Amino acid sequence: MKVVFATKNRGKVKEAQEKLKEFGIEVVPIDEVEQIESPEETGNTFCENAYQKATYYAEKLRIPVIAEDSGIEVEALNGKPGVYSSRFAGERATDEENNRKLIEELQKRRLVSSPARYVSFVFLAFPERYGIWSEGEVRGKVITELRGTGGFGYDPLFIPEGYSKTMAELPLNEKNRISHRGKALEKLVKTIIDIKKLKT
Ligand code: IMP
Repeated sequence: MKVVFATKNRGKVKEAQEKLKEFGIEVVPIDEVEQIESPEETGNTFCENAYQKATYYAEKLRIPVIAEDSGIEVEALNGKPGVYSSRFAGERATDEENNRKLIEELQKRRLVSSPARYVSFVFLAFPERYGIWSEGEVRGKVITELRGTGGFGYDPLFIPEGYSKTMAELPLNEKNRISHRGKALEKLVKTIIDIKKLKT
């Protein structure tokens, strides 16, 4: 079985491919199916953004599409950057710029760490205008020192609860086992399996 994943984020694609391989599902990034303009992200929640992206593509392409919206919520910043995680240091900011901004914001508050969590919403939309969604989170803390080269985004600054390494220091299969996205994708697949069982 193949599913189309509506994201241009290579890190997310790699993680979803690795995770869904366990269930015999092949993940195909949307730009390999069709070159199509991305919708604007206008939602105030991860759920709204995932829903908007998935339904936009499913209706345009007339195929089922998975979209995901995720980010990091930092306690010392009152939950910021949240849905603005990819744009924390400005529109089209790089991961390095966003990480630098997060370090600066913590340092301004004379902190060397803060509790934080990653959140992921995954939405599978069908062209007939229905869908299935799931969510996942991983709690931990952010620090002010970059460590590790794996993963993407804020991973070099994020230490999951119960670990001493950052997400960027963990192998991909370990990140996928504990991460917000790994959990959300796994729940989504299990829901699909349950629905299939109900139908047979
Ligand atoms: P989105 O593409 O709008 O969902 O942006 C998600 C943003 O949240 C990414 O660009 C990262 O900055 C951050 N993010 C989400 N998931 C992760 C993760 O697994 N590791 C590191 N950063 C993440």
